[in-house]
Amino acid sequence: MLFATADLRAAAKSPADLIPLPAPQREGGMPLMEALSKRQSIREYSSKTIPDPVLSNLLWAAWGYNRPDQKKRTAPSSNNKQEFSLYLAKGDGLFLYDAEMHALRKISDQDIRKETGKQPFVAKAPLNLIMVADTRQQSSLTSSYANAGFISENIYLVCASEGLGTVVRGWFDAGQLHTIMGLSPDQQIILCQTIGYPK
Ligand SMILES: Cc1cc2nc3c(=O)[nH]c(=O)nc-3n(C[C@H](O)[C@H](O)[C@H](O)COP(=O)(O)O)c2cc1C
Repeated sequence: MLFATADLRAAAKSPADLIPLPAPQREGGMPLMEALSKRQSIREYSSKTIPDPVLSNLLWAAWGYNRPDQKKRTAPSSNNKQEFSLYLAKGDGLFLYDAEMHALRKISDQDIRKETGKQPFVAKAPLNLIMVADTRQQSSLTSSYANAGFISENIYLVCASEGLGTVVRGWFDAGQLHTIMGLSPDQQIILCQTIGYPK
């Protein structure tokens, strides 16, 4: 295990570890119908890192606040439970997306990319997102799987628009990843999604 759960929670709250992202670009991008035409799953990635402005657009599109005055997001959630936390497994560590601050919080220096899936490309792709549901906020797993699908499709579309490749993944060892991330028993990993530039 990387760290105890209490340490993880403390790490996630530490202001010292807050890494601000540039403001997302809330206009423009590829026309929607063109992005839908290009949407596809990619399983071969180059090692090129994702620039911060692109990462900012990606995370905001995935699970950012599009109506911050109402605390509402780019993806719907059943009964507006908003039970998801988005974790980022990158080469330089494990991070948590803080949508309110539109920033990353560093959780650990460890590279856990290879633990996010059973397919070899996950270990080297620049980014694997891990969608984690809090079962105290949302008790219906069926709803959480549906809600994760909306986040995933937002990611697919912004990847098409930004020239990135992506694939959503259900094939991972959930128990092992849960332990490695130091998640609490109330947290459940629903899906992972690899993102990077296609090879
Ligand atoms: C819930 C779900 C889980 C998936 N899990 C995996 C996976 O573990 N590994 C993988 O390579 N693709 C996975 N996929 C991607 C599908 O294989 C892919 O969407 C399908 O082959 C159609 O290809 P397309 O996305 O290019 O249209 C998953 C898709 C969904 C919706």
